[in-house]
Amino acid sequence: MKTATYEIGMVGLGVMGRNLLLNMAGHGYSVAGYDKDRSKVEALRGEAGQRDVRGAGELREFVGMLREPRAVMLLVPAGKIVDSVIAELLVEMKPGDLIIDGGNSHFRDTDRRMRELEGKKINYLGIGISGGEYGARHGPSIMPGGHRDAYERTRPVLEAVAAKVEGAPCVTYLGPGSAGHYVKMVHNGIEYGMLQLIAEAYDLMKRGLGMSDAEISRVYAGWDGGELGGYLIQISSRVLREIDGKSGRPLVEMILDEASQKGTGKWTSQDAMDLQVPVPTIDIAVAMRNLSGLKDERVKAAGALPGPASGFSGGRNGFVEQLGNALYDSFVITYAQGMAQLLAASRAYGYGLALDEVARIWRGGCIIRAAILGDIQAAYRKQADLPNILLDPGVGGAVAKRQQDLREVVRIVADIGIPAPAMMACLGYFDSYRSARSPANLIQALRDYFGSHTYQRIDESGTFHTEWGEMQR
Ligand code: 6PG
Repeated sequence: MKTATYEIGMVGLGVMGRNLLLNMAGHGYSVAGYDKDRSKVEALRGEAGQRDVRGAGELREFVGMLREPRAVMLLVPAGKIVDSVIAELLVEMKPGDLIIDGGNSHFRDTDRRMRELEGKKINYLGIGISGGEYGARHGPSIMPGGHRDAYERTRPVLEAVAAKVEGAPCVTYLGPGSAGHYVKMVHNGIEYGMLQLIAEAYDLMKRGLGMSDAEISRVYAGWDGGELGGYLIQISSRVLREIDGKSGRPLVEMILDEASQKGTGKWTSQDAMDLQVPVPTIDIAVAMRNLSGLKDERVKAAGALPGPASGFSGGRNGFVEQLGNALYDSFVITYAQGMAQLLAASRAYGYGLALDEVARIWRGGCIIRAAILGDIQAAYRKQADLPNILLDPGVGGAVAKRQQDLREVVRIVADIGIPAPAMMACLGYFDSYRSARSPANLIQALRDYFGSHTYQRIDESGTFHTEWGEMQR
């Protein structure tokens, strides 16, 4: 039996952990995996084939297999489990060893764990990994953060397993501390926004235009071939084609309309609020998942609250084209919000993020990969500290050119009563962002009226308060 020879260890042999381990082994790395659940260890052994892969059901045996200084990746559910696995590992590990958290941990947990382990001289990396099961096996996008030295140690294997775009691996050192997990969190926030937008377009075609799932699938397939092209659009086309074996109907029709969530979208919104960065599309996407969960209330409200009497009356083909443009603008505006959040977080938390590199590593392997990211990467290459991608003449110009279609779609959904709150939020963000003068002057005046909160003037510096006088009834 070989001992202490394995280059990398994996704790957590769920399908993600197993696939990533097999991906590493496929690139010539000798790897060992550990899981308390023996059936998962067996699954790894079964899938390993001739590759240099070992599975262990005992932690001590597993750690003993690893070459020193050891490198152990965790792919376990975010939260307390990560802390308990680290505590167990610490009993067996030595100063100089490295723990890599590859899950969707909250960035503040990552910072805390890094601090705690620094005292014990254990290196720690927080790495976001995107791409689902297939990506883990065949090339994910990898978002690492932590000490640069620790990253350099793992760089060859991460570069080997990552997706490649134009020959370059979709991984790069992002920054210190929780930089990697923060970027992954915002990736997921954007993912929430895009999923909601795609669902709204589907709803509009389905309920608004009366199209069949097969027809809608073909629309997504068409969009995938053009500027809207990307993974989520592609899989929308695929999913809408699937026929349910039990009922013979399109499978999506048989799926309960309540969306679950594990929290990363909510965390994105929460931290955006703390940083005072507006990300309304992500906020609304989280809110709509919550609203989808109110199934019983929605069913009651459907009977109690009438909407507009008239439905869609225009030409279907023209509208679908407008919808494609509306979706394009909405996607760009959603990326714009997420990137603006990353810029603010980079400054607030000292990540030193290179946003062109973030856009680059999102171009392959991850869930939000899309053609649009090429333009976003180019925009940040031209200006690294661009406050918002809408200010890039190319990206902003492309959005402005299609804005009439977004306006038309929003007008029609308001008319016919089909909800498209994320598209509306995108248009509202676009119009608010391009308003040199906002109505916040009135908010300030009202705050000063009822609470003496003071205001500033446009013609004079300083802080002002007005004795407004009590309102006479
Ligand atoms: C990815 C995904 C992945 C996971 C989401 C789902 O990048 O591979 O984002 O991390 O599918 O966390 O999140 P919800 O369960 O909250 O939708």
